Amino acid sequence: MEFQNIEIKREDKVAIVTINREKALNALNAETIRELQTFFENHWEDDSIGCVIITGAGKAFIAGADITELAKLDVKGAVHTSRIGLYLMKTIENFPRPVIAAVNGFALGGGCELAMACDIRLASEKAKFGQPEVNLGLIPGYGGTQRLARLVGRGKAKQLVFTGDMVNAQEAYRIGLVDEMYPPEELMDKALEMAKNIVAKAPVAVSVAKECINRGLDINLSAGCDFEKTAFGTIFGTADSKEGLSAFIEKRKADFQGK
Ligand code: CAA
Repeated sequence: MEFQNIEIKREDKVAIVTINREKALNALNAETIRELQTFFENHWEDDSIGCVIITGAGKAFIAGADITELAKLDVKGAVHTSRIGLYLMKTIENFPRPVIAAVNGFALGGGCELAMACDIRLASEKAKFGQPEVNLGLIPGYGGTQRLARLVGRGKAKQLVFTGDMVNAQEAYRIGLVDEMYPPEELMDKALEMAKNIVAKAPVAVSVAKECINRGLDINLSAGCDFEKTAFGTIFGTADSKEGLSAFIEKRKADFQGK
């Protein structure tokens, strides 16, 4: 499918999705949300993709929802817009393979929310993060009031959401909003290195591990451990678990088939 606002590149089993609306600092208009949704849905069952990296073209990762579109919304339209955006964030979060955000610049509002829906956040030292919606008389609408508190704790989340202030990559790293930070020119190489490291592992195990961690964050510890126990059993039914265990014992490199 032809996309207007996103670009897809492949590096073997890694798909690199670049948001490419530089004139609006990659703001998420309805069409860009639709294209991202289509990309993830089209590749839901596509085992040739073992990891996705999302990044932005130019100086921004994503500067938020498109404010020119928000300005036209009534109450019903705003609820619809939030629902569509939240659905994309959930789609990214639940995508059966890992999704890495390579945050190259501004990750504001919906951009910070999209980064938070990804599994791992890598940032350029020049990146800036924030939930500036209160500056517009709004609140976050793509999960920011929920995922930010889960990532950085309620006090820091409230500070960021109530003030609308931006934080630099160093501060984002310090508070746990960002997992790794690199010089700008190294960001994509490091993201690819991590993605390639991940896709070299047993794909079903990685996917099931993602599901366990995600599920566990939504339920209590005891129920989460029960979920893990069942998943641990399931994984022993895969050929890759036999291969991984045999390879260790036979002192050779495992050759995983994704089965
Ligand atoms: N929506 C639409 N257009 C945007 C945009 C956005 N979120 N962010 C930037 N742009 C546009 C600007 O209007 C400008 O367009 P023109 O050249 O046509 O004037 C262009 O991108 C470049 O932006 P600036 O000239 O402002 O660039 P800057 O370097 O001076 O400032 C910035 C960069 C600090 C990121 C500033 O653009 C800014 O504050 N942007 C808005 C950030 C924001 O408030 N995001 C939250 C949106 S609401 C939201 O996301 C709700 C939700 O949770 C779903």
